[in-house]
Amino acid sequence: MKKINIGLIGYGFMGRTHSNAFRQAPVFFKHGHQPVLKAVCGRNAEQAQAFAQNWGYESVETDWRKLIARSDIDLIDIATPNNLHFEMAIEAAKAGKMVMCEKPLAMNAAEAEQMVSAVEKAKVPNMVWYNYRRVPAVTLAKQLIDQGKLGKIFHYRAKFLQDWTINADVPQGGTGTWRLDASVSGSGVTGDLLAHCIDTAMWLNGGIDTVTAATETFVKERKHAVTGKMQEVKIDDASAVLARFTNGSLATFESTRYARGHKALYTFEINGENASIFWDLHDLHRLQYFDYRDASVTRGWRSIHVSDGDQPYMKNWWVPGLQIGYEHTFTHQFADFVAGLDEGKNAAPDFRDGLKTDYVTDAILRSAQSGRWENAKGRA
Ligand SMILES: NC(=O)c1ccc[n+]([C@@H]2O[C@H](COP(=O)([O-])OP(=O)(O)OC[C@H]3O[C@@H](n4cnc5c(N)ncnc54)[C@H](O)[C@@H]3O)[C@@H](O)[C@H]2O)c1
Repeated sequence: MKKINIGLIGYGFMGRTHSNAFRQAPVFFKHGHQPVLKAVCGRNAEQAQAFAQNWGYESVETDWRKLIARSDIDLIDIATPNNLHFEMAIEAAKAGKMVMCEKPLAMNAAEAEQMVSAVEKAKVPNMVWYNYRRVPAVTLAKQLIDQGKLGKIFHYRAKFLQDWTINADVPQGGTGTWRLDASVSGSGVTGDLLAHCIDTAMWLNGGIDTVTAATETFVKERKHAVTGKMQEVKIDDASAVLARFTNGSLATFESTRYARGHKALYTFEINGENASIFWDLHDLHRLQYFDYRDASVTRGWRSIHVSDGDQPYMKNWWVPGLQIGYEHTFTHQFADFVAGLDEGKNAAPDFRDGLKTDYVTDAILRSAQSGRWENAKGRA
């Protein structure tokens, strides 16, 4: 059993989900590599220490450059705000470390291109944490599509809705609200929420060629948590997109943090000539499936409870009928990454896949400015 010494940067929300995955994956999925929680890095030594103790990390660093320079670290896991991904990933690749990076891969596609070059030049295993691919019901959707069950696909419809920034007193910048500061996040809901929808969509339904979009910033000025001053808000609060896939299908995507009543409503629906699929994050273990080829008297939407041993990932968990949840998507992704190491290949999505999503989100933001259809397959 080969050891993988992990150095995690960032001990916030994603630092927790990843740490949980590192602990659970080797217990539930048997592979030839054993993760070791070697070090966690955060700027506050006391908080980093408390995190290390809670999750079982052997050591703590407060300077990410020192962590990357350590010879006893094999893999750098980046779970920091978006503006830090670029420098950290490039440094890690240069140091010959494997790199796992949170999404969106970068602030924009120009940065992401350099990150792809860095990991490919260094030939280091790499992955982006688009975790929703690993919801068993979503993986089942992929299998059904790949088996041709839907036939020709006409429509892809996805949305990701939240409601936590409606209050104009929510600040921008700082801990917890860095997502509202464009200099840290790169963009608003397009890079944060819609990026998930785009990644899943391209995985399920192939590449996106062109997009046209409208975005809106509903609250134009917010106090900055660090400077204390009222400053212009430069993120998109809401994003509405039309897209054309290479396979000829048409898509609508929507994301906002102004949908009162929705905490994290990520849904998608796919309509093919023979069948349709619907999935909802709030009911994540179910896949809704309609097949026109069923006998007409009993034809209708089926609600598939994805919890049986022959359904994706489920044989590694409990007994048939018992469902799993959000945290398992990260465990599955890390388990697949380790399986990739055993086989000498990257688990998808790798940095190159993450770049493709950045091309689409950049094109969406460009179109919102230009009012035109924009190429989503590369940089303008
Ligand atoms: N895959 C998903 O579903 C998902 C969900 C949430 C967030 N994310 C992504 O994960 C990343 C982190 O988001 P989060 O919600 O965990 O944020 P968070 O604010 O909860 O945590 C960020 C962490 O980074 C640390 N950090 C900031 N600057 C640092 C520095 N210079 N050196 C070391 N540590 C530093 C902070 O102290 C904090 O521990 C973002 O890129 C975000 O887009 C992905």
